[in-house]
Amino acid sequence: MIQFDFNYFMDEFIGPQHGMSKNDIDTIKSKCDAALKRMDDEKAKGMLGFLELPFDSNIVKDIRSFKETVPWCDTIALIGIGGSALGPQALKNALADIYLNEMHDTYRGKRCKAYFFDNVDPGEMQSLLRILHIPSTLFLVISKSGGTTETNANFAILLDAVKKHTKDYRKHIVTITDPEKGILRQVTQEEGFFSFPVPANVGGRFSVLSAVGLVIAEFLGIDAARLLHGAGSVLQHYYGKDVWANAPLLNAAFHYLFDIKKNKRINVLMPYTRKLYLFADWYRQLWAESLGKRFDMQGNEVMVGLTPVAAMGTIDQHSQLQLYLEGPNDKVITFLKLKDFGTDILMPQFYKGKPELEYLTGKSLRKLNEFEEQATELVLKEASRPNASIILSKLDEESVGQLIMFLEMQTAYAGYLYNINPYDQPAVEQGKRFTFGLLDRPGYEEYKQKFSNGYVKKESYIL
Ligand code: PA5
Repeated sequence: MIQFDFNYFMDEFIGPQHGMSKNDIDTIKSKCDAALKRMDDEKAKGMLGFLELPFDSNIVKDIRSFKETVPWCDTIALIGIGGSALGPQALKNALADIYLNEMHDTYRGKRCKAYFFDNVDPGEMQSLLRILHIPSTLFLVISKSGGTTETNANFAILLDAVKKHTKDYRKHIVTITDPEKGILRQVTQEEGFFSFPVPANVGGRFSVLSAVGLVIAEFLGIDAARLLHGAGSVLQHYYGKDVWANAPLLNAAFHYLFDIKKNKRINVLMPYTRKLYLFADWYRQLWAESLGKRFDMQGNEVMVGLTPVAAMGTIDQHSQLQLYLEGPNDKVITFLKLKDFGTDILMPQFYKGKPELEYLTGKSLRKLNEFEEQATELVLKEASRPNASIILSKLDEESVGQLIMFLEMQTAYAGYLYNINPYDQPAVEQGKRFTFGLLDRPGYEEYKQKFSNGYVKKESYIL
């Protein structure tokens, strides 16, 4: 089971000024109990679909049956943004391979290559269009709402490219969207595209364990059933438990207390492997959109939020660490560690007789990674900088499923401790409305007008 090591959050290691005591957690015990109850209540009302995803007994079967109908598929092109793209990318890097697309067929085997269209960038689109081999590509169009401009813009261009290539374009398109609502669902029905649903009660950034992440997973050789099993085991292990036996709730409580008691609002997630770096990126969205809120549940203006930062070891020891150690003591750092890398490489004989280089001879790359990570923990501790670790036993589907559910639960609990709604994103929606207005979408004229009135600048302030 995934582990949470919070030693260096504690005052006995980093001192009372910056550390937490057991008593600090105990003083918010009633808040933690209320968080457990709110999760229970919302779950009972059917609002928390992300907690039900691990127990969906049909989805993996459906994906596998569909996969058999497209034996020609050698490449997945995923079109989506935010919660509809970050999780899938994180899964690819963690469990397929960062370099899957570049791999020789001997190593890649039957696993598909994967490309992600998750930005509005003509240069990137042009580059990707040059390398896509349309006859062997399946396009996954993912949008919970169906109405996201970036996704639909990329879909428009790619659909046109597929249509230019073949009249039989429909077989190249799969949509993943709300089961009933939205324009993408409507188009899916009219066109007869194959489609998977995103359950209505699962929000974008909590959707990676739905078809949003599982379809691409299966095409990349990732066992979706084991991902769900791992996530379910975290629920079974922690759900409803008291704060001292519930690691996701405990970590949420620490982050809440570091904010309100110690003024630390920057949260760094720092994996010590590039394969997990995109999980830190996925988590940035989860944490930022869920917890950055203007109003609490009673409508009072609170403007809470913790700023998530993605970092990576060992690279950022040579970039960010100087700031983390000697800059403002306003950060809470969580390392993402792997107990077992599943592989190791020993350094060969290296410049015998030159002690500055020879010391590396026979040392293991895995051990070097571990020593560097432990040294970073230690120097942070010595500088009274709070740091903890989330530890995965290895990089496989079970562990990654556990990590996803752990971080989703932690985020939801944190939202409850702040007494906000962690599942909406009103500010993001406002930005979307202005974009619609500027693109002359009917019904959004007032936003175009508001934009012309508001987007005013002085030439003299531009040098
Ligand atoms: O978490 C969310 O709901 C958002 O970040 C969405 O994932 C993002 O805006 C994309 O939305 P959609 O999946 O509706 O296209």
